Amino acid sequence: MEPSDLDFISDMLEAELRPYRDSHRTYSSLPAKGRPKDEVLSEMRELAAVEERKWRDGYVSGAVYHGGAEHISFLNEVYAVSSQANPLHPDLWPSAIKYEAEIVAMTASILGGGQDGVRSVCGTVSSGGTESILLAMRTYRDMARAERGITSPQMVVPLSAHAAFDKAAQYFGIELVPVPVGSDWRADVAAVRQAITDDTVVIVGSAPGFPHGAIDPIEELSTVALEAGVGFHVDLCLGGFVLPFAERLGYNVPVFDFRLPGVTSVSADTHKFGYAAKGTSVVLYRNGDLRKYQYYKTATWMGGLYYSPTLAGSRPGALAAECWAAMLAFGEEGYMVATDAVLRAAAAIKDGIRGIPDLRVLGDPMWVVAFASDSLDVYALSDRMAARGWSLNGLQNPPAVHICVTLRHAQPGVAERFVDDLKASVGEVRDSPGTEGMMAPIYGMTGTVSTRETVEELLTRYGDLQFKV
Ligand SMILES: Cc1ncc(COP(=O)(O)O)c(C=O)c1O
Repeated sequence: MEPSDLDFISDMLEAELRPYRDSHRTYSSLPAKGRPKDEVLSEMRELAAVEERKWRDGYVSGAVYHGGAEHISFLNEVYAVSSQANPLHPDLWPSAIKYEAEIVAMTASILGGGQDGVRSVCGTVSSGGTESILLAMRTYRDMARAERGITSPQMVVPLSAHAAFDKAAQYFGIELVPVPVGSDWRADVAAVRQAITDDTVVIVGSAPGFPHGAIDPIEELSTVALEAGVGFHVDLCLGGFVLPFAERLGYNVPVFDFRLPGVTSVSADTHKFGYAAKGTSVVLYRNGDLRKYQYYKTATWMGGLYYSPTLAGSRPGALAAECWAAMLAFGEEGYMVATDAVLRAAAAIKDGIRGIPDLRVLGDPMWVVAFASDSLDVYALSDRMAARGWSLNGLQNPPAVHICVTLRHAQPGVAERFVDDLKASVGEVRDSPGTEGMMAPIYGMTGTVSTRETVEELLTRYGDLQFKV
């Protein structure tokens, strides 16, 4: 890739990041006098209404998992009740502590812990799937250092696992040992077994994984972990609030949680299919002997004795309140109804894709549906879908695109619209394969002609663009 190509892509990205750059005033310093609050609010409403409607109408993969107007206004009311709460100060907001403890307990109760399962299962609330994963990986590192004297820790991670595991490796100085996935896109169990060394602190499985929605062979991996005496983290960020209910609905779901004796921790995202507002997730451990390594403590700080369970210090208690309220408002029955709707919409979308001769669905997914093509540029296809309003996720190694089906796609007519638009887009790419969108140039250039350094330079520019006024 030439520097001019990078400039070209950066310009495209900038236009996408700031569509209102010419229509709305930019603030690069504080206004000398405060603006009237109603003006501020109406400007914000305009920004949201003009540019941020896509997700409401079900054009977006993942991102907003519920999005119903009534549910949103309920969550907003809850936020207003607790907007000042901070669990860092339990004496001031004991309700925030109650909410967090009960979110953890309720989540454990659907994932094989709690009353009828493994009573010792415990955990904490975090800010999202990535933080839950970061916390768990650091916990394994520190436990292994303290209890096994491991100073060069390794984690064995299937290539399909979320980037958060690599982030944990980079942040915490853990070596990530990648293992391949099979032709069904599930972790290769024999490769995991082979990759384990005396320095392995944890192995990882996903149910399902982000890229292809494949559910790794969790039961087999649990056995491998037990035999090797290492930790086993199951990433249930996407599946934690779907699989338990899919199982009860009679779908064929393999056991994926603490019912398996080798599973030592999981991450489950309340802010995805738990239908809480963005900003909460749960990390669970098999017992407190493991969780204690997650806590940060200092007995010598001049500011006093200090403890915090997660990466942040102060935390938004209102988000825990919203999460708790969403869980109570749904209950088991609500999650069953929602799961049924998501899985039905996903089935319609899968069938539709399978009916398009140029495309093939990767593996046998439940609700995160990836597809590729042997005859067309799948990124150009995604661009054609973008021109019709769709926002899908581009995957790589190999090239593919996915849609994570949510309740937004369960609205009447949305799955059908997706399939119709996909058929029309396939026809267009077949007739005129040139590219006009964004995905194809980016992925085309990040393919054979460019180095990893160039792609990383592009991502750095993307970061800079996000913070440029
Ligand atoms: C399987 C999986 N794990 C982890 C994450 C990271 O979650 P978050 O974006 O909430 O940090 C995601 C996000 O989509 C995911 O799909």
